[in-house]
Amino acid sequence: MPAAADLEAGRRKAEPCKSCHGADGNTTIPGTPSLAGQPVFFTHWQLIKFRDGRRKDPQMSPFAANLSDADMADLAVYYAAQRPLPRPAATDPAKVAVGRQLAEQHHCVSCHRPGLTGHEQVPRLAGQDLAYLVKLLRGFKAQTAGDLDGTMTTAAQPLSEADIENLAHYMAILPPAP
Ligand code: HEC
Ligand code: HEC
Repeated sequence: MPAAADLEAGRRKAEPCKSCHGADGNTTIPGTPSLAGQPVFFTHWQLIKFRDGRRKDPQMSPFAANLSDADMADLAVYYAAQRPLPRPAATDPAKVAVGRQLAEQHHCVSCHRPGLTGHEQVPRLAGQDLAYLVKLLRGFKAQTAGDLDGTMTTAAQPLSEADIENLAHYMAILPPAP
């Protein structure tokens, strides 16, 4: 591990990220994830993947290109310390109910934790943006998402397009913080 991460340095380094991810890591831009309250390891690993080109996005990749390992560590502790807010979402109660059952059936909670609040390298899904959740699940299903160790790509293989939709509606209504 590099030297101890510095939260205040992370706050300064997050300045260029605000326009998309929000002042405190909570954004309302559809398709852009909120970062507040995500586990430190998760954020750090995603930044490494963007920098190394293992994860690609035309908006996001340029902002990771020049980050050092210390920058990533500082940013990750900063975002982990911010309180996550629920994203505004128009959810369908029927889809939420089916999504809840699917999350049980496919053991999403065994990795993402009960309440889908995340831990270690596994992200919080609760209260994340609905459009973003759908986009990522489609990417894992299509095997184009470039995940850390392949576990999430494997987990997405049995999901149909309808399953993805229903799961996203369920995850979007869960409270993001315990
Ligand atoms: C121009 C808009 C923009 C800026 C500025 C930006 N990002 Fe992003 N970021 C995105 C988008 C869009 C995604 C989702 C990419 C995808 O769909 O895979 C993303 C994804 C991420 C993720 C992955 C989160 C997850 O839940 O998977 C992290 C971590 C992240 N950004 C951190 C940062 C940091 C740190 C900065 C500043 C150094 C930054 N971003 C600047 C648009 C931006
Ligand atoms: C074996 C463990 C495991 C299981 C089971 C699992 N996941 Fe994941 N999931 C992960 C890991 C690890 C990541 C981070 C992958 C990466 O590196 O991008 C992830 C990432 C995600 C993401 C991307 C979120 C973001 O902010 O980038 C979504 C959405 C997701 N999982 C949904 C689900 C759903 C829905 C299920 C159940 C159908 C599920 N996961 C089951 C381990 C798992």
